Amino acid sequence: MSTEGRKGQPKPRVAVLFGGRSSEHAVSCVTAAGVLGAIDKDKYDVIPIGIAKTGQWVLASGGTDEWSLSASSLPEVAPSAQTVTLAEIGGEHQLIVAAPNTVPQELGAVDVVFPLLHGPFGEDGTIQGLLELSDTRYVGAGVLASAVGMDKHFMKVVFESAGLHVGPYIAVTDRQWRNDPETVRKRVDQLGFPVFVKPARAGSSMGISKVDSLEGLDAAIEIAREHDPKLVIEAGITGREIECAVLEGRGTDAPRTSMPGEISVAGGGHEFYDFNAKYVDDAAALSCPADLPEEAITRVRELAAVAFDALGGEGLSRVDFFYTPDGELIINEINTMPGFTPKSMYPQMWKASGLGYADLIDELIHLALHRKTGLR
Ligand SMILES: Nc1ncnc2c1ncn2[C@@H]1O[C@H](COP(=O)(O)OP(=O)(O)O)[C@@H](O)[C@H]1O
Ligand SMILES: [Mg+2]
Repeated sequence: MSTEGRKGQPKPRVAVLFGGRSSEHAVSCVTAAGVLGAIDKDKYDVIPIGIAKTGQWVLASGGTDEWSLSASSLPEVAPSAQTVTLAEIGGEHQLIVAAPNTVPQELGAVDVVFPLLHGPFGEDGTIQGLLELSDTRYVGAGVLASAVGMDKHFMKVVFESAGLHVGPYIAVTDRQWRNDPETVRKRVDQLGFPVFVKPARAGSSMGISKVDSLEGLDAAIEIAREHDPKLVIEAGITGREIECAVLEGRGTDAPRTSMPGEISVAGGGHEFYDFNAKYVDDAAALSCPADLPEEAITRVRELAAVAFDALGGEGLSRVDFFYTPDGELIINEINTMPGFTPKSMYPQMWKASGLGYADLIDELIHLALHRKTGLR
């Protein structure tokens, strides 16, 4: 398929999807503000679609102010009387706006969807499945890679099988915790404290606690369980937080990797890179390129590409590591839809590697427009 869009349409139509049902709703809106502000509107016909916390799709404002992060409130997509749906009409996938007692209105066919969604029901393969069912092209990882990348347990299983170094951890299902919490406590004790208690499928550090002793464990488990009945509990790792951006190669080319970046959390009472450090207090310093020996930079980039391929990644991913004092690289996680505001680490790492924000958006849309639908 050409990038010219459908017949008679000079510009490909890009539906930008944001908001969503997960606890990272606001973060996704902030990402949308960045993308809507930078996407080339001379080249693409952009349709902003917000997903309310209820799951309803609504036609959203393309203005960036509304979706930006302000000190007083977090942005949120409001439910509306008008619902947007994707339906096949006349052999094309069209966006339709429907409201009670009115004739549904066609918004036209969509060439590519850009799902700027973080967390469950967005980054986890569910939206991707919906788009696959309707043969609609979209930016980023497919169903399986999205689902595995969302689940901190299964991603480790995949990483380990690809020979990547994963830190000590246990996965705890809802059934295990409710049937036999004592065994869970024993297994955690064997990991050694501190531990990090995490919802298996969340992000933006939501629901994550650092626990220094057995006494604090149950409370941390209950906090994590508010986000997900399934948990991952990891031994705390001492190391610098090093990240690498991966971009799918064109055609049959290998994935491209950026210069690595480093996150350091400076003061503000943040014991780790938690939600407030990430989004509220701006307490995290991103440095890119990270100040690492040449040999470590090469290794980070190689391992990031291995992680991307291990999942069957497409489009983009950010791969995060701990770089230990003895020079080991332990993989922490992969994010198939990483933070994507102009200030976020993923675009910053590409900027430091010679690819600016608007060009990065353009490249991602290019990759999506050129990919096959169906099994790949
Ligand atoms: N095993 C660990 N050892 C040390 N720090 C950790 C560990 N796991 C998480 N952290 C800290 O918590 C932050 C968030 O954890 P992470 O697994 O990356 O969750 P999220 O998907 O929400 O970003 C990390 O950036 C790091 O600062
Ligand atoms: Mg993380």
